[in-house]
Amino acid sequence: MKTLLRIDASTRIKGSNTRVLTDYFQTKWLSHNPESQVIHRCLASNPIPHIANETIKAFHHANEPSSDKMLSDTLIDELKSADHLLIGSPLYNLTLPSTLKAYFDHVVRAGLTFEVRQGNYRGLLNGKAATLITARGSQSSPTDDFQTTYLRKILTFIGIDSIDVVALEGMALDQKTKEKALSCAKQQIDWLINRTVSPVWQGEFSEYDKQQINFLRAGQADAIVNGDAQAYAELCADNIQLLIPSQDVITGRNALLEAEQALFSSAKFASFQKFPLYIERSGNLAVEVGRQEVTMKNRHDTGGVFSTGQKYTHVFRLTPQGWRFAMLMSNPNE
Ligand SMILES: Cc1cc2nc3c(=O)[nH]c(=O)nc-3n(C[C@H](O)[C@H](O)[C@H](O)COP(=O)(O)O)c2cc1C
Repeated sequence: MKTLLRIDASTRIKGSNTRVLTDYFQTKWLSHNPESQVIHRCLASNPIPHIANETIKAFHHANEPSSDKMLSDTLIDELKSADHLLIGSPLYNLTLPSTLKAYFDHVVRAGLTFEVRQGNYRGLLNGKAATLITARGSQSSPTDDFQTTYLRKILTFIGIDSIDVVALEGMALDQKTKEKALSCAKQQIDWLINRTVSPVWQGEFSEYDKQQINFLRAGQADAIVNGDAQAYAELCADNIQLLIPSQDVITGRNALLEAEQALFSSAKFASFQKFPLYIERSGNLAVEVGRQEVTMKNRHDTGGVFSTGQKYTHVFRLTPQGWRFAMLMSNPNE
């Protein structure tokens, strides 16, 4: 039996965007891992106290009495029992909620979750995976998010280094932006749960680069399932090249828009999922290869375009507006 440890840090019980996604992740995870259990820590309804000097002394001296040390022991037992850690955490004033920081102050403990050997630190919670679901009101720039870097670092410090981030942005902007971000994030979660292999990122990718490329992939799937050619075109660079089997190369965003409008007027997609295997960066370009799975609502495979499983290659370009698709190609013979 597997265990999912879910931690919600939003102060909001209702109307919380991160909780919409931690709920979604939990449901999908349980259907993917039947007969598993979920331990739920809601830091809003059951806050962890800030770490006190008595608690720290009790961590180091077995005879010091401390109810917080008992809480810390319980939290560490929960963490040790978990196969997968799910954290829903909004950005509060450029960083993580203090309730979540208080949680980490209770579970990062020498000898229990990390150790120091000959001056080297080593995490003790190996073999676990984590998914971070973050949300923010504005749209991000690489320099004003002190949360994701911290969460990655502290989890790695205690030995959890298989970490995926699902980032919701623009939650305080208009309704359309918010709905689009939630929908893309759900696509990303579907992919995370169903994938069998983690992609290899080769070359220099910042956290922000990875988020943007993951967002493009999820945004493309979302646009295709919604039949939204405009949303699809917005993910592409001006001189996008689209290689559709048995057709001439389609060059440029306008041409792509027309081609996708024509496609979506007849073809309806029930699902569209990508499983990237390898992403390599060279300067302002990144090449991704992977496998995609497509199910149609109203058509069966015609000439490979709509075949259920095929390999694909993407080229992404870093433009002044951020990463965009520069070339899209799939192989109909797979
Ligand atoms: C106290 C507080 C501080 C916030 N600080 C930021 C911030 O620094 N940057 C930002 O983009 N959004 C900020 N926001 C917006 C939240 O990140 C956003 O509303 C998010 O959706 C909240 O998560 P939730 O929907 O799960 O509650 C802040 C919100 C609150 C309540």
